[in-house]
Amino acid sequence: MCHRMSSKEVETQPFDDDFESAREYLEFHWPDVMAIDNVDEGAAMPWIMDQFHRTFTEDKHFGERLLDVGTGPTVYQLISASRVFTDIVCSDIHQGALEEIRKWKNDDTDAFDWSSALKHVSGLEGTRWEERQGQLRRAIKDTVFCDVHNENPLHPAVFRPFDTIISTYCLEGACFNKGRSTYKKAVKNVCSLLKPGGYIILLSYIGVTYYLKDGKKDPDNLRLDTDFVLKSLSEAGITVLEASEFKTPDRDACSYSDVKSILYVVGKKDLNGDYLRLLSENNDNGV
Ligand SMILES: C[S@@+](CC[C@H](N)C(=O)[O-])C[C@H]1O[C@@H](n2cnc3c(N)ncnc32)[C@H](O)[C@@H]1O
Repeated sequence: MCHRMSSKEVETQPFDDDFESAREYLEFHWPDVMAIDNVDEGAAMPWIMDQFHRTFTEDKHFGERLLDVGTGPTVYQLISASRVFTDIVCSDIHQGALEEIRKWKNDDTDAFDWSSALKHVSGLEGTRWEERQGQLRRAIKDTVFCDVHNENPLHPAVFRPFDTIISTYCLEGACFNKGRSTYKKAVKNVCSLLKPGGYIILLSYIGVTYYLKDGKKDPDNLRLDTDFVLKSLSEAGITVLEASEFKTPDRDACSYSDVKSILYVVGKKDLNGDYLRLLSENNDNGV
């Protein structure tokens, strides 16, 4: 099972270079969950929630088991999915982030409030948000360590390949300042956790050349563009079924980054040679 840090370790592990804790990150980036006037992203949130809603009302066989890679301390990305999946595993390199997920799942008194995102999705679905909240809380079955730079990102935990993977804003953060070849490798590592024929949904920042830290520009040599993200997925054995982009507002000053657009991709893992051989052997045997 997963390595769990002691509560002391969880408390003292900084979230990243900018935030001491996952809670601080939540309070800075998510003061108003469904904000439509974010300086850098404008009305990206309703657009993102609409994309997830549309995807999970499509008539595709997504399966029952979902892995979220780089969950962070957020659950907005899982709300629409939890209508489909009964078994959701959240994963992240940061134990404090996972602790926020556990607090939310357990309805702790100081859990972060995601109700405005739940209400938005319930409005789209015509469901009751309190029931949707309960459904997502029940569906989250585990919170595990993950490092996308490891060939097996979930090591030492052991899981069967997942039916579907979601990953939102994780890989660009994990590969910040590490270059494009590291990004490609991380995409491959993540896709290795998916079963052949399984789906992957990726949300990514596009066109970032710098992040702002203490008012100073911190250049990002990764500089993702849509073609590169799609090529990386394709090299990892993913057929891209859909790629949609939300253009961020033109602005003179940025509050966090100079992100140019937000990319939402739905892909399907190719059936590899071994899997096709097994299928045909089974068919030959009348299975
Ligand atoms: C920008 S946050 C995104 C969180 C959330 N998915 C969202 O949509 O808001 C990036 C997350 O990736 C995690 N992360 C960074 N490096 C990682 C790595 N090497 N492996 C797995 N997760 C990583 C961070 O801890 C953080 O929670």
